[in-house]
Amino acid sequence: MNLPDGWLSGKVALVTGASRGLGREIALALGRAGADVAVTDLLIESETLSKTDAEAHGLLTAHFSETASVRTLSTAEEIQKMGVRSIGIKLDVADPDGIRTAVSEVYERFGRIDILVNNAGVMDNMALMDKHTDRMWERDIGINLTGTYNCIKTVWPYMKKARWGRIINVSSFVGLSGAYAQPGYGAAKAGIIGLSRSMALEGARDKITVNAVLPGFIETEALMLHDPGMLDRIRSRIALKRLGKPGEVASVIVFLSSESAGYITGAAIPVTGGADLFVF
Ligand SMILES: NC(=O)c1ccc[n+]([C@@H]2O[C@H](COP(=O)([O-])OP(=O)(O)OC[C@H]3O[C@@H](n4cnc5c(N)ncnc54)[C@H](O)[C@@H]3O)[C@@H](O)[C@H]2O)c1
Repeated sequence: MNLPDGWLSGKVALVTGASRGLGREIALALGRAGADVAVTDLLIESETLSKTDAEAHGLLTAHFSETASVRTLSTAEEIQKMGVRSIGIKLDVADPDGIRTAVSEVYERFGRIDILVNNAGVMDNMALMDKHTDRMWERDIGINLTGTYNCIKTVWPYMKKARWGRIINVSSFVGLSGAYAQPGYGAAKAGIIGLSRSMALEGARDKITVNAVLPGFIETEALMLHDPGMLDRIRSRIALKRLGKPGEVASVIVFLSSESAGYITGAAIPVTGGADLFVF
């Protein structure tokens, strides 16, 4: 990423779902750009979920829980070494009380919250409608969409008081294209675009910008769980013929977080390598 160092100096950011994958890369990129960063996730190293609890949070949580891929606290330590402040905190985006506690802690420690990146999400509810369960639908909407709403609602008063804010919601290009065998995921990611545009209208009077970023297929630990044949098929359907790197999404989010992006609001920005184009 080639944005200037110190681009976000003096700003405080909170990133959800940042223990691995895209969220972790976003947190690191914000730290590199000079922001103080609260690295938050459902999973943190110091807490072990029971097998039943982990399974209740879905296949991916059950897969990654208690593995070396949980790096919430260690990512905060990595960011501190960049010379900025950082803390790792447990934050379940489906738990409004827990979010309030986490956000208060960030405010008390760092004195402000300027940037919220709603990245936490679940993408593991896959089934055609005849096999789709209500629980799958509820998890997709509850975590991906209501989780985003919960975090916006909690930071909103702080940003309004400061009369400045940047909210970046990680949607997906499938929010526009639809997602085969993922009706809840597709609906939630489309909902995030509508929520972003609605909050952009409301935030404008207080210089709070709200945008959605729509990644295509990004090479995270979770995506790479697909079998190699499926990944080859995916690559062949992308105009640039390759998966995206997490840093290629993170750099867009760093830019949207900056003062320089102050005239961009209510946008839904694809970062897809052309996965959303008609590919011959
Ligand atoms: N990787 C891709 O190709 C891709 C494409 C489009 C959109 N996205 C979106 O990007 C985001 C990150 O994707 P990823 O590939 O890094 O996935 P991932 O599954 O590796 O990361 C999701 C993170 O969210 C956390 N999380 C899950 N439930 C949570 C909850 N209730 N509260 C707080 N944290 C929770 C997980 O622990 C994990 O750290 C997701 O919103 C996903 O929908 C990813």
